[in-house]
Amino acid sequence: MVSIPPMTLDAALAGRRSVRQFSARPVERTLVEEVIAAACLAPAPHHSHPWRFVIVSAEARASLAEAMGERWRQDLERDGVAEARIRRLLSRSRARLAAAPVLILAGVAGQAQRAWPDQRRQRAEDVMFGQSTGAALENLMLAAHACGLGSHWLSAPLFCPEAVRLALDLPADFQPQALIALGYPKEGLRLPPRPPLAVDEHIVER
Ligand SMILES: Cc1cc2nc3c(=O)[nH]c(=O)nc-3n(C[C@H](O)[C@H](O)[C@H](O)COP(=O)(O)O)c2cc1C
Repeated sequence: MVSIPPMTLDAALAGRRSVRQFSARPVERTLVEEVIAAACLAPAPHHSHPWRFVIVSAEARASLAEAMGERWRQDLERDGVAEARIRRLLSRSRARLAAAPVLILAGVAGQAQRAWPDQRRQRAEDVMFGQSTGAALENLMLAAHACGLGSHWLSAPLFCPEAVRLALDLPADFQPQALIALGYPKEGLRLPPRPPLAVDEHIVER
């Protein structure tokens, strides 16, 4: 049963922002479980519950950062990025993983996904499960906000699934989707205001 403090829906939707600086205050385990329970209320294809949430310990983060960083380095070198910039990027990314009070790797796993004989339908099947993870993670981040926590999304695992599986000793059917960093926002943290919304620009009529 999910027990999230009440908040109006518009306050939750508008108030949730990406928080990338956290206070040292530890996050209670019960809150971590509550926000994961909220994530699991999301819709999913084929009436399934395909999401898995790996709570990544401080020790495991070092191997995760190392493995993802090595893969990223290969991509950056292939793109011709200068060595000094590669080092800066990798060190910033490593520091972010280390600084999150809680780090959650979200993925999909299990038997829910259908196997299709052609790439077109297989790709659509994979995207459906990714979409469902997006819905679950929005639930998680909204619930976190209602609990007074901040969060932000890190998409790196999507780009190096094999490295992530190896680093965290995850089974072959685990498809990494995203990392969520979670914690109490740094005291006095000010976030830039949201850009003005012109909803008309997002609506198309046919
Ligand atoms: C699919 C997805 C991938 C994202 N990847 C990253 C990321 O790799 N690193 C990061 O700092 N933020 C990432 N974000 C967060 C966005 O940058 C952020 O949501 C956006 O700037 C809007 O700001 P807000 O969340 O405060 O409204 C991602 C968000 C989504 C939905």
